Amino acid sequence: MMLVVSTYAHSAAEDHNIVSKGFEVSCDLCLMGAALFDGFLLRNASNEEVIRGSTEVCIGLHLEKPEVCSGTMKAYAPIVYYVIVEDELAPSEICYKLGICSHDPNEVTVNKMVKSSEVAESALDKVKARLQKKPEVLTAPSQPRSETGFSGTSYILQLADIHMDPLYTVGSEPHCGEPQCCRTGNGTAGFWGDHSCDIPLWTVKQILSQIVEINRTKPISMVIWSGDNSPHDVWMMDEQTQITAIQVMSDLIHEYFPNTIVMPSCGNHESYPMDEFLLPQQQWLLDTLADSWQQFLTSEEVATVKKAGYFTSVLQPGLRVVSLFTFDADILNFYNLLRHSNVNIRDNQTDWFINTLEQAEAHNEKVLVVGHIPCTFYPLPTNHWCRIYEAIVERFSDVIVGQFYGHTHFDQLVVFTDTATHSTATGTNYVAPSMTTYVGHDPAIRLYEFNYDTMEITNWYQYRTNITEANISGNLTMELAYTPIDLYQMPDLSNAAWFNLTQRFLHNDTLLDDYYFQLRSGPHTTWMEQCDSVCRRLWYCEILGVTTELLKQCADGKIFTN
Ligand SMILES: *[C@@H]1O[C@H](CO)[C@@H](O)[C@H](O)[C@H]1NC(C)=O
Ligand SMILES: *[C@@H]1O[C@H](CO)[C@@H](O)[C@H](O)[C@H]1NC(C)=O
Ligand SMILES: *[C@@H]1O[C@H](CO)[C@@H](O)[C@H](O)[C@H]1NC(C)=O
Ligand SMILES: *[C@@H]1O[C@H](CO)[C@@H](O)[C@H](O)[C@H]1NC(C)=O
Ligand SMILES: *[C@@H]1O[C@H](CO)[C@@H](O)[C@H](O)[C@H]1NC(C)=O
Ligand SMILES: *[C@@H]1O[C@H](CO)[C@@H](O)[C@H](O)[C@H]1NC(C)=O
Ligand SMILES: *[C@@H]1O[C@H](CO)[C@@H](O)[C@H](O)[C@H]1NC(C)=O
Ligand SMILES: *[C@@H]1O[C@H](CO)[C@@H](O)[C@H](O)[C@H]1NC(C)=O
Repeated sequence: MMLVVSTYAHSAAEDHNIVSKGFEVSCDLCLMGAALFDGFLLRNASNEEVIRGSTEVCIGLHLEKPEVCSGTMKAYAPIVYYVIVEDELAPSEICYKLGICSHDPNEVTVNKMVKSSEVAESALDKVKARLQKKPEVLTAPSQPRSETGFSGTSYILQLADIHMDPLYTVGSEPHCGEPQCCRTGNGTAGFWGDHSCDIPLWTVKQILSQIVEINRTKPISMVIWSGDNSPHDVWMMDEQTQITAIQVMSDLIHEYFPNTIVMPSCGNHESYPMDEFLLPQQQWLLDTLADSWQQFLTSEEVATVKKAGYFTSVLQPGLRVVSLFTFDADILNFYNLLRHSNVNIRDNQTDWFINTLEQAEAHNEKVLVVGHIPCTFYPLPTNHWCRIYEAIVERFSDVIVGQFYGHTHFDQLVVFTDTATHSTATGTNYVAPSMTTYVGHDPAIRLYEFNYDTMEITNWYQYRTNITEANISGNLTMELAYTPIDLYQMPDLSNAAWFNLTQRFLHNDTLLDDYYFQLRSGPHTTWMEQCDSVCRRLWYCEILGVTTELLKQCADGKIFTN
């Protein structure tokens, strides 16, 4: 239960000396927690006892400061207890299901992760069978928002992981020993931000103003807003702080882009407790999204959000957006461990997603997919979702023309390949880096160049600001960091071209270093500077996807024969 404090806690980190902010959960620690829950089960403890007992242990072991322990345990311990009781699990099973512990201590990390996260083969088989079939009912084409829409080249802005901290205080302490600092104390927290903290409201506003400037030369036709609004103060959150964060950011984006199409997707940070989603417990979240996103969506789209968190929108003839609700992919959503998955939204979303893509294909529409949690292994998503997602991407490889994600705060890629031979690319997750500096990044925003005639992404412009410079000069400006066409000398951004690039990475360390440099989104993460060749290889391997056999081979070094 401890791993919830950090988005990054569960990862390849421990085994590769990558130290990140937040709790580190070792197998021993997890099993110790499991023993604690054994005791709760034996005593048929009440939720109050579970919270009290786990808080005492957290404080006793000095895992975090007392107030962090108490807020975190209050939020998560009852959910873990609920799942254990509902599923009649042995508490230690949670440690294995989450991949924190391995039954075989000799397995390498990636193998461990690929195997250990719950793979519901039967669910995957069901999806594969479904994908073979032609749609039973073809509905009439949806009414587009606009009969004409855009033509030629224009730009799609992606805002990822904003994480605005309303309590950010200039001159406070950035290294306070809690997961969220820069709020109190006497220290060096700069005016625009600090690499150890989330960013203040005025920094978000300044970045949005800068985008309005960029818009003069690169006209923006659509904003993709891939979620995560609230700061990383997990132990201090409640429903109301989350509701406020969603509302404030929705209104702010609407204020800066009043006449632009905005396509949002919900982040794991939007819920309370963060990462946890089950209906009816979190119906308040869907109600809040429906309410705050009204200013961007049609009433029909809002109705879908209110029911299930996802929606689809036909923007103009031939172009559809699908926004996914990616709590299915969240390994820290303990409710995903429930055997009775039908109590969750995930089967509905899979059915709905496939059906929507089938209708799109039948009506000659191209689809842009927006989501929060991508299929990268860092941080690890659920294998259940990613294997299904990979199968869907393969089947609809000609329909899906863009996949926009965030969540990791890094600038990453996932190139999916055909499951039979892994020799043809079927799709690419574009993972845009965060606007927040948390942790160790420079604030970033991305503009995709999109051709509305051919429905192709032809390039992107990655902008960043050097927060240290900004603090010193007093001016924060977004500067162009790179475009993939120039940086990688690519002919275009087709799936085939991305696949070619992965092949070139294999034989050119300089090129791979270019990717790795951008991935860090500002080279301020000291723990990544210590990344050795094994660590770099792992980051490369993850481009090939978290679920494939190829990833295992890659991590085992079998692909690196040069
Ligand atoms: C456990 O406690 C709950 C009330 O907290 C009670 O309803 C239930 O019957 C108890 N179960 C057992 C097996 O004692
Ligand atoms: C903060 O530090 C400065 C310089 O060390 C000192 O003058 C000041 O009194 C401190 N302020 C507080 C509130 O502790
Ligand atoms: C600016 O930000 C950097 C990076 O977080 C921080 O170390 C520095 O103290 C800040 N400087 C000023 C003058 O605000
Ligand atoms: C998911 O599907 C089940 C069965 O069709 C239905 O009972 C449930 O209401 C659906 N949930 C959502 C969120 O649409
Ligand atoms: C940001 O600016 C600081 C101060 O000028 C500099 O030391 C650092 O190397 C810069 N970072 C990047 C990524 O250019
Ligand atoms: C900040 O930007 C303004 C406007 O671009 C410029 O006039 C001013 O000189 C800049 N200040 C610094 C310290 O760079
Ligand atoms: C991929 O690489 C091959 C051989 O290097 C080349 O023939 C082909 O044109 C490339 N395709 C793309 C889309 O870049
Ligand atoms: C490797 O990549 C670098 C950087 O893009 C490029 O300058 C160099 O020519 C490439 N080397 C080879 C052998 O292709």
